[in-house]
Amino acid sequence: MKKDLLSLLDLEKNDFEKLFKRAIQLKKRYARGIPDKLLTGKTLGLIFDKKSTRTRVAFETAMIQLGGHPIYMSTHDTQISRNEPAKDTARVLSRYIDCLAMRTFDHALVEEFAKSSTIPVINALTDSFHPCQILSDLMTIIEHKGGYKNIRIAWVGDGNNVANSWINAASVLGLDLVVACPDDHRVNPEIIESALVKAKTDIEFTNDPGEAVKNADVVYTDVWASMGDEDELSKRIIAFKGFQVNKSLLSGAKDDVLVMHCLPAHRGEEIAEDVLEDKNAVFWDQAENKRHMHKAILESLIQ
Ligand code: CP
Ligand code: NVA
Repeated sequence: MKKDLLSLLDLEKNDFEKLFKRAIQLKKRYARGIPDKLLTGKTLGLIFDKKSTRTRVAFETAMIQLGGHPIYMSTHDTQISRNEPAKDTARVLSRYIDCLAMRTFDHALVEEFAKSSTIPVINALTDSFHPCQILSDLMTIIEHKGGYKNIRIAWVGDGNNVANSWINAASVLGLDLVVACPDDHRVNPEIIESALVKAKTDIEFTNDPGEAVKNADVVYTDVWASMGDEDELSKRIIAFKGFQVNKSLLSGAKDDVLVMHCLPAHRGEEIAEDVLEDKNAVFWDQAENKRHMHKAILESLIQ
């Protein structure tokens, strides 16, 4: 039966472990110039309704390096924008391509595509989740910290799609996660409830960023206004006062704290310029690892 990757709750701990192992192996092999053409002759479709630099290019290069072909489609250029039903588009695309990566606003649309397709569907970001991002970020944590066990991860910022996927990963893997959001921008309680069904750990929630970063091994942040929320930015800048990841906030974390951001970053808002430009910053490793992790994901889903 075909498998989809719509949310990290679709995966078991063992699936995460296999993806980490394979992505790290593929990265090493690529660095040594060893080709891995396991998807020769296969085609990945990408339907994106929101902007993307990293996820799109990482998926396209991953597919090309694995010997396959990507086809990028902005929704505006397809009949979806003229209201062709998702279920019809999904059935038609299933006759052409071997896998579909989608970036949409409403998560229900990705679910509908997955239901109506006979090919695997990958969530490349929705308003609700960004699963592939957290997989590659955990790979980065493993590379820099030697693993994720006993690693205290502090989320500081909006209760958004990236935070939701961290909560899902924490539930399945038993991560030590604390989530700090302003009161009016907390994680949707339904997301927490559905993650708790799988929970192997207690996830902490607070509205105090100082409290959250205390003794943290990893501090993670993301934009205060995600794609679709841009109109609220000026209000949010006020609501998120005190949530900027800067040297002063980080002084409460462990000395070797890893600061992470999925990017794109808004300097001077959720993250200070000097933190982003730190010579030991891992943001660029995070971005690179998306390509290696996407390869492992594609390999695991495409028959
Ligand atoms: N981190 C991430 O998903 O970046 P893009 O929006 O550029 O794909
Ligand atoms: N939360 C951000 C992530 C971008 C990669 C957004 O959805 O815009």
